[in-house]
Amino acid sequence: PPLDDIYDLNDIQMAAKNVLSAKYYASYRTGALNEYTYQANLGIYSKVRLNGFSFRDVSSMKTSTTILGYNFSQPFFIAPAAEAGHANKSAEASLASAAGKAGILYVPSISSTLSIEEIAAAGLNGQVMFHQEYIWSNKSKVLDELSRMKAAGFKAVFVTVDNTGINGIRTRSMRYTDGSDTGHAANFDLNALAAFRNLTTLPIVPKGIKTWQDALTCLKLGFPAIYVSNHGGRILDGAPTSVEILMDIRKNAAEVFNGMEVYADGGVRRGTDAIILLALGARAVGLGRPPMFANIWGEAGVMRMIDLFAQEMYTSMQLMGVSNVNQLNTSYVNTNQIVPL
Ligand code: FNR
Repeated sequence: PPLDDIYDLNDIQMAAKNVLSAKYYASYRTGALNEYTYQANLGIYSKVRLNGFSFRDVSSMKTSTTILGYNFSQPFFIAPAAEAGHANKSAEASLASAAGKAGILYVPSISSTLSIEEIAAAGLNGQVMFHQEYIWSNKSKVLDELSRMKAAGFKAVFVTVDNTGINGIRTRSMRYTDGSDTGHAANFDLNALAAFRNLTTLPIVPKGIKTWQDALTCLKLGFPAIYVSNHGGRILDGAPTSVEILMDIRKNAAEVFNGMEVYADGGVRRGTDAIILLALGARAVGLGRPPMFANIWGEAGVMRMIDLFAQEMYTSMQLMGVSNVNQLNTSYVNTNQIVPL
C-alpha cells in the first residue's frame, strides 16, 4: 500500500505481513514458546495511566535529548535487529540513512545483512551510531569486529547478554527453518562481561538486563548505561516486561537511575508507550520490529514510521502538560493496576 495510507505502526506491521514471505515475516514477528512475554510486552502499556496536567504552557516543545552524551532529536532509537535484508535489498542502509535524516540513534545488529563498514557508509556525515555485539566464544572474531566498529566511527557498543550462552526457542519461525537457533558462545559469566570491556576503548552497554540484581551489578562494575530488555519476547518466555523491570529496579535498587543511563524496549508501538518507559526512568526507548517492517518501503517507510511515532509522542506530551522529555518522571504515571513483582 502507498505510505499515505499508513497511519500508525500497526498499519506498518499489517502491510509487512502482506508483502513479506511467510518465512521472513515469521522470522521478524516471532517470540519464544507461548509468546506470553511477547504479548505481555504489547499489553502492559494498557495497564499504566498517564497523568495529564492542564495548567502548563506547552506552546514550545523539546523532544531532543542526549544518549551517552550525544545529541539526538528524539528519545527513541532503532534497536539492533538481525537481517534487515529480508525486508528490503537496501537492508540496514535504509535504516541508517533514515535515522540520520531524522536525527535519531540507530544501533545495527552484529547479525546484519550488511557489513559494519557498509552500514557506517550509509550514514550521513557526522551521524552518530552505536553498534551491537555479542560475546562470541571466538575471541579473535570479537577483537576484529570491535576494532572495525571503532575504525568505522561507531561511538559505543551494546553488548547483548540475554542470549549469549543459549538462544530462545522460537516455535513460530522454527516451522520455516531446520529448527536450530543456537546461542553465541559456549559459556558466559560475569568475568566474561567484565573482561569484555578491556577489548575496546568504546563505552560498553549491557543489553538484555531483566532483573534489578543484574542492573545493580552493572552499576557496581561501573558501566555507563544498561539496556533493560527481554529481547522482544524472543528469548526467555515468561520474562517480565520492561515496565515491570523498571518498577522493580526502582523499588530495590533506585540508585541505578542516578548512577547510569537506562534504556528500555519491548512492545513499544505508540508514542504513549515510549512516554511510559521514559517516565519510569528510561532515558531512551528502543523500537525493534517496527523499523524492520517499515523497511519494506525502504528509507521512506522508515522515515514515515519515525515521523508518525514522533507525532504521537509530541501530541501526548502536550496533552500531559510536558514541554520537555527530560521532565518525564514517575509523577506522570499511575501503575496501580500492575501488581509488583
Ligand atoms: C531482534 N533483537 C536483537 N537484539 C540484539 O541485541 N541483537 C540482534 O541481533 C537482535 N536481532 C533481532 C531480530 C529481530 C527480527 C527482532 C524482532 C529483534 C531484539 C531487539 O533489539 C529488541 O530488543 C526487541 O525487538 C524489542 O522489542 P520490539 O520493539 O520488537 O517489540
